[in-house]
Amino acid sequence: MLAGVGLENLLEKRKMKTNTISRDGALTSPWQIDLLTVVQKERTTDQIFDCLIVGGGITGLTAALLLQQAGKKTVIAEAHTIGFGTTGGTSAHINTFADTTYQEAESAFGAEGARLFADAINEGFALIKSQIAQFKIDCDYEPKTAYLYAENEDEMKLLVGIYEGAVKVDVPVEYSDDVPTPVPFQKALRWEGQAQFHPLKYLTALRSAYIEAGGSILENTLITQITSEDGVHTAEAKSRNIKAKTVIYATHMPPNINLFNFECAPYRSYVVAVKLHSGEYPDALVYDSQEPYHYVRSHMIDGKELLLIGGLDHKTGHEDPEKAFADLEKYARKYYSISSVKYRWSSQYYVPVDGLPYVGKMPLAADGIYCATGYNGNGMMLGSVAGKILSDLVRKRPNKYAELFDPCRVKPIDSFSEFVKENSDVAYHFVADRFGLHETDSLKRLEPGTGKLVEVDGEKIAAYRDENGNIHALNPTCSHAGCIVNWNGEEKSWDCPCHGARYDIEGNVLTGPATKSLTQIGSDGK
Ligand code: FES
Repeated sequence: MLAGVGLENLLEKRKMKTNTISRDGALTSPWQIDLLTVVQKERTTDQIFDCLIVGGGITGLTAALLLQQAGKKTVIAEAHTIGFGTTGGTSAHINTFADTTYQEAESAFGAEGARLFADAINEGFALIKSQIAQFKIDCDYEPKTAYLYAENEDEMKLLVGIYEGAVKVDVPVEYSDDVPTPVPFQKALRWEGQAQFHPLKYLTALRSAYIEAGGSILENTLITQITSEDGVHTAEAKSRNIKAKTVIYATHMPPNINLFNFECAPYRSYVVAVKLHSGEYPDALVYDSQEPYHYVRSHMIDGKELLLIGGLDHKTGHEDPEKAFADLEKYARKYYSISSVKYRWSSQYYVPVDGLPYVGKMPLAADGIYCATGYNGNGMMLGSVAGKILSDLVRKRPNKYAELFDPCRVKPIDSFSEFVKENSDVAYHFVADRFGLHETDSLKRLEPGTGKLVEVDGEKIAAYRDENGNIHALNPTCSHAGCIVNWNGEEKSWDCPCHGARYDIEGNVLTGPATKSLTQIGSDGK
């Protein structure tokens, strides 16, 4: 824990004992490795930083490093530890295409908007490459060819649209007769020059470079509130206040209730990493066009090749994660001869209602407060370019994507139906949860290692029975805006179906926008 007042920006480089990076769920991903770290010593808390960055994922670290390199005094406040959130759970694809297709971007934002979006994706990609080169980062970076295939008529039409949209914005793509997949397909696209890497090796190298450049990091520092006066923002955390002239929320959903609760939908995505009997792993990034989709790629972990199969994304708290994993494994076993499942984990991302991320001045906030969210499933490129955009905005420099990604933009009419769909879903949960439409059950039927919403004397309780038989009981009312949380039996978390807040079995916040824990009701010891 960093503490102490008046000790000015001292940097101590030393080899620590190795640290395993933790993540926002009970499952383990292959990225959670033991890493030697460069650590900082004590820092003062009474100085006014040029920029406070809330969140220590790829967006926050990229912005922080760029700002620090530009001579701005910055501090990162991370609620848990660096890489705890989505960056630590990503499947780490680096592409020149995106979940929002260039054709979709053109229909919503015009030809120039689509071209700028493509430029942004490419710039994010290039930034990752240049950081790897500049800092000589050993992060398993490998160039790959990517394939997207269609299995039926509808998907073939989709592919044609993706092809035409990409050609219009000069993103190289071609049709392909061959795809390294055992799945029968009818048509396919191929992109050369794509890539993959190890996200936490990359992130921790950025962290080292940032600290080397004089930056400060405060881990286990949850910012609960920010007040602004005379151009200085004061961020409140449990153990300290931090003052800064500017603030960047690099937390995906900014905390507490804000406009993004109605503009971004939280999604869970699933991955299994398996060993194959054959030893023949595809040397490519392969995607199908199903809804929800599947993808496949390989990665060498600890000297052993693994096949990563992922997808089956769904809205957070809306479907059963255990079923999602079961379906994913069934799919994997249908097409591959699997000798063992080595890892399984899930992660969260945010789908923006009009298809493009929100990066820039935080709506309805004081001047000098910025945010970035709504990356869809393209957080590596968009998180990186968002870091660049935000660092430019903090430095009052022009950035060509600032207007397109402006969080205060007026949504195009085209996206209105999607907007209604996303919000009616949230509205349903606001109503349904409050009127008790969810399944309830008795505490007695709760098996060890499982959680459930139960009703005791007419009161709803989020109850988890641990392996020793003890009940961990919480008030299931989400501290963000009052929806009722659902049990995630895979990550052992309570997930809110409204805006994606997540809590551990003790009620502590794992994922925003909530900043307060669920209330503990107590343990009955049975
Ligand atoms: Fe908004 Fe739970 S995350 S009510």
